[in-house]
Amino acid sequence: MNNNLEAIIYGVCPNLKNVDRNMFLTGFSFLDEDGFEKEELSEDLDERALLGFMVSKKRYMHSLSVAALCRKIALIHGLDGRKAYIAGMLHDCGKRKVDGMLRPLIEEYMPEYLDFPEWAYHQFAGAFLAKEVFRIEDEDILEAIRFHATGKKESGTYAKLVYAADKIDPLRGYDSKYMIDAMEKDIDKGFAFVLQENKDYLTKNGYKVDNPLTRECFIYYKIK
Ligand SMILES: [Fe+2]
Ligand SMILES: [Fe+2]
Repeated sequence: MNNNLEAIIYGVCPNLKNVDRNMFLTGFSFLDEDGFEKEELSEDLDERALLGFMVSKKRYMHSLSVAALCRKIALIHGLDGRKAYIAGMLHDCGKRKVDGMLRPLIEEYMPEYLDFPEWAYHQFAGAFLAKEVFRIEDEDILEAIRFHATGKKESGTYAKLVYAADKIDPLRGYDSKYMIDAMEKDIDKGFAFVLQENKDYLTKNGYKVDNPLTRECFIYYKIK
């Protein structure tokens, strides 16, 4: 890793300075092929601990809850539960409480996203960190993380899964069961339904769509 990249990652995740990342990276070996945690506890530190260093406790709990929901929906539809779990687990790994923290990373490595509203930076930073810190190479997982907050047109199946699961996570504290049911029935229709609910919420509360990815997403999926 070049020095500049290392400095920027430490700027975004100061806790990682005290961490030997090689000790953590076990290739998600705590998960079986369907994405369930193996019963035998490993002596090794794993990616869960690494994520715990990077995000707040609350964010960590949300991440594991989204991961479990992604896995459940994926397995119902015969998709890869392990992949879904990892995507859900890492979707918010770029999220930071402090405003402006992600800007240097976006400026240096993803200047094409600089004009996006700051709340969306964490999805781009998240995909970047998933690759650089967690060594994720799977494009489905990276796409799911990179667009989980804005959505996008022509979303892949795992991107639809993570976008929806993030919005309907039971830990969010509102009744989202009807949307979970919709996702369990049909991912494509369920995703469009969650998008519609999201747009309705924005309209009702007087928010405008503030970025081109969401705008294109709503048009592409014919959200009214
Ligand atoms: Fe997020
Ligand atoms: Fe989230």
